Amino acid sequence: MKIIVAKYAGFCSGVKKAVTTALSCESQTESKYTLGPLIHNRHVVKELEEKGIKPVNNLDEITGKTVIIRSHGVSPEIFERAEELNIKVVDATCPFVKKAQKIVWDLAKENYDIVIVGDHGHPEVQALVGWSGKKAHVVDSPEEAKDLNLTSKVAVVAQTTQPQENLENVEKVLKEKNIDVKVYNTICNATHQRQNSALSLAREVDVMVVIGGYNSANTRKLAKICSRECPTYHIEHSGELKKEWFVDTKKVGVTAGASTPDRIIEEVVEKMVEINQEQEKNEAQIEEVEQSAQTNAEEANDVEASAQENTQETVEEHLEEGLKTFKKGDVITGHVVQVNENEVMVDVGGKSEGIIPLSELSISRVEDPSAVVQPGDEIKVQVIKVEDEEGHPILSKRRVDRRRAWEKLEEAFGKGTEIEGTGLEVVKGGLLVDVGLRGFVPASLVDIGYVENLEEFVGKSLLLKVIELDKSKNKIVLSRKAILEEELERKRQRTWDELEEGQERDGVVRRLTDFGAFVDIGGVDGLLHVSEISWGRVDHPSDILSEGQEIKVKVLNVDRDKERVSLGLKQLAENPWNRAEEKYPVNSIVKGKVLRTTPFGAFVEIEPGVEGLVHISQLAEEHVEKTEDVVSVGDEIEVKVLGVDSEAQRMSLSLKEAKAKEAPKKEKKKEQRQPKVEEQEDTELPESGVKLGDLYGDLLRQKANESK
Ligand code: F3S
Repeated sequence: MKIIVAKYAGFCSGVKKAVTTALSCESQTESKYTLGPLIHNRHVVKELEEKGIKPVNNLDEITGKTVIIRSHGVSPEIFERAEELNIKVVDATCPFVKKAQKIVWDLAKENYDIVIVGDHGHPEVQALVGWSGKKAHVVDSPEEAKDLNLTSKVAVVAQTTQPQENLENVEKVLKEKNIDVKVYNTICNATHQRQNSALSLAREVDVMVVIGGYNSANTRKLAKICSRECPTYHIEHSGELKKEWFVDTKKVGVTAGASTPDRIIEEVVEKMVEINQEQEKNEAQIEEVEQSAQTNAEEANDVEASAQENTQETVEEHLEEGLKTFKKGDVITGHVVQVNENEVMVDVGGKSEGIIPLSELSISRVEDPSAVVQPGDEIKVQVIKVEDEEGHPILSKRRVDRRRAWEKLEEAFGKGTEIEGTGLEVVKGGLLVDVGLRGFVPASLVDIGYVENLEEFVGKSLLLKVIELDKSKNKIVLSRKAILEEELERKRQRTWDELEEGQERDGVVRRLTDFGAFVDIGGVDGLLHVSEISWGRVDHPSDILSEGQEIKVKVLNVDRDKERVSLGLKQLAENPWNRAEEKYPVNSIVKGKVLRTTPFGAFVEIEPGVEGLVHISQLAEEHVEKTEDVVSVGDEIEVKVLGVDSEAQRMSLSLKEAKAKEAPKKEKKKEQRQPKVEEQEDTELPESGVKLGDLYGDLLRQKANESK
């Protein structure tokens, strides 16, 4: 296994300066303090503490002592406060940060509106805000910059560790506002160098190990970049390394965040060398001739080639009658006779039983050999040594399995066929899977949509497609998404083939919009327009439907050329107009709700899907200027049915006639309650000159109509 450390990794010059400065104070007897942890690496911080350099959060805690300012720098107020408290200041601010502070200070004096591109809570950014006289605006993205309210004199600076692209995008947004912007590129090249060298290394190796504090943003960023290229492990120290990360690995890349000292990188590399040596030792025990560095390459050779190279190892003792002879590289069939803790004994028909050491039993790490083979099993093995000191052939099942797995993968890759695998472990950027060998499925290729939690695939059987295969680099990249997309395409094709207008189909609401819902009817999304959801009025599809809901729909229209399908839901229920004439006969009084008002009257819903018009002339006896003078949207009113046309789906209604019909009823009740008074009023009617027709004109007209 080759271990390659990235060209730029670990301490940047600023962090190195801070640590060196802090350590140079160490020899003095008195304790020193840092305002906040000196760097984002808790192991280094702990070591410094042991040397009497302790972090504090507030200067008030260390009156009269010495404080070391870390590489992020601090605001001018901190220097002032230190002076007030008689604290000696050792300034280890990174020179690049100091330069940015100076720029901000000068810009503030010239009354610039200052925009700082950076992380709001980062100490370096907070210090810069301090140097701007607390006037600067902090934005961490172009989106935030859009909302800024700025004057015409604007200057932009960046946190030293910001991605270049972010600064450029903020600048673009500000320029779109027609603001004349002065941009100071205060980004430090150290971050850029580390990210670039990590990326190119990750492209070259099988596995990346990224070292640095979990709380270090720049280390997390490095891990993220690497994880897009290969399985990546983020660790803080060598103790976290696991042997299984390096099984069948030829090249490992190592990089480290800017807060990681060389010593920790060296420890990690040393531990990796140990792991590698251990693996090589296992190999050496069984294969004196093989050099561990060539192991994988030799495995890749076909059996014939191997056999030709090793003919001299044929064992003559095996010529005894009835016993099989074999040579190094042969692939033979045997039967498991015994499964021990550290080895498996196999009868291969020779004079002695063959031995499979534990490390040669399986491609995966083996805890319990009996979980892999059982006595009596017939297995294929490769002879890797004809005899050990006791005359037993040394065999490998792993190499046969591995060769078969590669053949299977190559065939699947060549033919584009699917293979089955099992989710093994979630790593940065994706999922490791067992496909006979360890393969990698990038997170974006696990499913068609975004997957929140990849853990749900661990231990599950998955159908996968090989999308990249490189035997020399031991690289196997797979996609589950490709299989799902193919399945979806087949389903879609089937649906198009059988789709016909008038069909009723099961569907799932995928997406709601203002104008309707998109319903998946089998890989094909049809549009259920808002007007086709219900016979009644629907303001928004979400009033009736929700995403993920399963519904039955009717296919209203299929346009194969444009690949559009129109669907209906209301068509699956009876049209309420079919029975409207029967339910609401002319002259009946019905209750309804005012749905909307127009200059020519009000539309009143009698039941969902059935609405009628109360013409403005039918709103009241007297002349009505505006519909809204009489009714408002939402009013519940009684109306009289003047006419129903089910076919045209129209109904004419009258409010004034319904009221007129009500009036005599009320009068009658009044009569019953106050007979004497009524009699008196009646007798007075002729004298007052008021006629009954004046009072009940409409009622009388209606009676006359009814009797015709
Ligand atoms: Fe300084 Fe750049 Fe490091 S700003 S602290 S040298 S990342």
